[in-house]
Amino acid sequence: MNTADHDRLLIIDFGSQVTQLIARRLRELNVYCEIHPFQNVTDAFLTEFAPKAIIFSGGPDSVMREGSPRPPRKAYEMGVPILGICYGQQVMMQDLGGKVEAGEHATAEFGRAYVTPTETRSDLLAGWFMDGTGREQVWMSHGDHVSEIAPGFDVLGTSPGAPFAITADTERRFYAVQFHPEVHHTPNGKTLYQNFVQLAGFTGDWTMGAYREEAIRKIKEQVGNKRVICGLSGGVDSSVAAALLHDAIGDQLTCVFVDHGLLRLNEGEEVVAMFRDHMNLQVIHAQEQELFLGELDGVSDPETKRKIIGRLFIDVFQKYANQIEGAEFLAQGTLYPDVIESVSFSGGPSVTIKSHHNVGGLPEKMGLKLVEPLRELFKDEVRELGRELGLPDSFIGRHPFPGPGLAIRCPGEITREKLEILRKADAVYIDQIRKHGLYDEIWQAFVAILPVRTVGVMGDGRTYDYACALRAVTSVDGMTADYYPFSHDFLGETATRIINEVKGINRVTYDITSKPPGTIEWE
Ligand code: XMP
Repeated sequence: MNTADHDRLLIIDFGSQVTQLIARRLRELNVYCEIHPFQNVTDAFLTEFAPKAIIFSGGPDSVMREGSPRPPRKAYEMGVPILGICYGQQVMMQDLGGKVEAGEHATAEFGRAYVTPTETRSDLLAGWFMDGTGREQVWMSHGDHVSEIAPGFDVLGTSPGAPFAITADTERRFYAVQFHPEVHHTPNGKTLYQNFVQLAGFTGDWTMGAYREEAIRKIKEQVGNKRVICGLSGGVDSSVAAALLHDAIGDQLTCVFVDHGLLRLNEGEEVVAMFRDHMNLQVIHAQEQELFLGELDGVSDPETKRKIIGRLFIDVFQKYANQIEGAEFLAQGTLYPDVIESVSFSGGPSVTIKSHHNVGGLPEKMGLKLVEPLRELFKDEVRELGRELGLPDSFIGRHPFPGPGLAIRCPGEITREKLEILRKADAVYIDQIRKHGLYDEIWQAFVAILPVRTVGVMGDGRTYDYACALRAVTSVDGMTADYYPFSHDFLGETATRIINEVKGINRVTYDITSKPPGTIEWE
């Protein structure tokens, strides 16, 4: 079975900021869907994709602008249900003979709004308007609005700024809403999607078990009897990719784990023990601490550190990979959001804040073909797949850890002494967080060792040791973040433990900067 054997839903992306959330809601309903930018959706594409239903996303454009994005006419002629959202509603109305007006005439609406029903018998609204208030909270974000609905449509719900908030042509199974049911601020939005996919006849056949079977079959088909190399970082994505590949092709897979000497306490040994000893993967533990720390000696500029680590990582990876005879494939843990971003038509290049270290150019450089078994998954689906593959929860739920490791948590010059102190302090901090049951509430927590020594007093003696900063943030995707509001009791207890248990630190501070203006890491 492959994805083509599942019921497939097509989301035509008109550039809304929240299109990915539509896909999330549908995946939660066990519906297989793909997002494609409107430019790519041609008649031929529609025939090949053969969707069982289509959703038109929102978007920033105005349907009244000449040349604004449209779906192909064929979308309406396939006999499949369509749901239009916001811009998608306006497109549908205009395409099918209705009218849209610009927002100047008083009906632009942004933010929370309340929809009341004019017709509740529609299957699209099953489970709506049931809480006794007679209305539903929805999230609006539109300038233009529909001023005349297309022939064949009925109005099912209205809001003060959108007389045609919910519209339906039941016969053709075309539905269109002015608000965004996919966002959190439309609390009952998921029900609307559920009703839509039910109307369209989806059976909810997209499960992780099915995905795993299918992914294994695809990997076997792609790789045949050739060898595959996988860079293991200890992070969730590469770990799940490796476990999945191992399930599919066993010993044809060799993993390379590069230890650059910038890992956390016992991390290298733990990762290798888990994959090699417990899961029986072939793992090369590239012990290159001397090389990395040697080249970083005396370097304190953050970008220079990152560049050195990135360059050495590629060199080292290549060196070990070259020893694996007959390797033709390189496995990568690319996720669906990376894939969508790379075809996004609205996103321009953004300023480089930090040069992220990755192995982007490696496959071409080494003449290897790519295997990307997680390309269709979101992060939380990767975690679910990891569980399905038997990776321990403690591993799957781990906070993200950056490629350059502790180097960017050690502002100023990196020395072995500082790294040693940092590792111990970090271990105490994380232990505290786990003991207080806070680990899963926090996106990322770590210690940074500061390039200053401060005076303290312990017992009867003077100390002159390093200061450190604790960092903990909440975040959804790492793009923005808030500092975590620990209690003062927690902070006090943690500071005492670090100073008592870690020789070399005599002062602890808590970093209360959010992102922006700060970044999560210190460098
Ligand atoms: P910043 O510090 O930019 O970090 O707010 C955002 C997220 O990205 C992680 N990060 C990296 N991850 N290679 C990575 O794989 C890198 O070079 C890198 N730099 C930052 C950081 O830990 C946070 O989760």
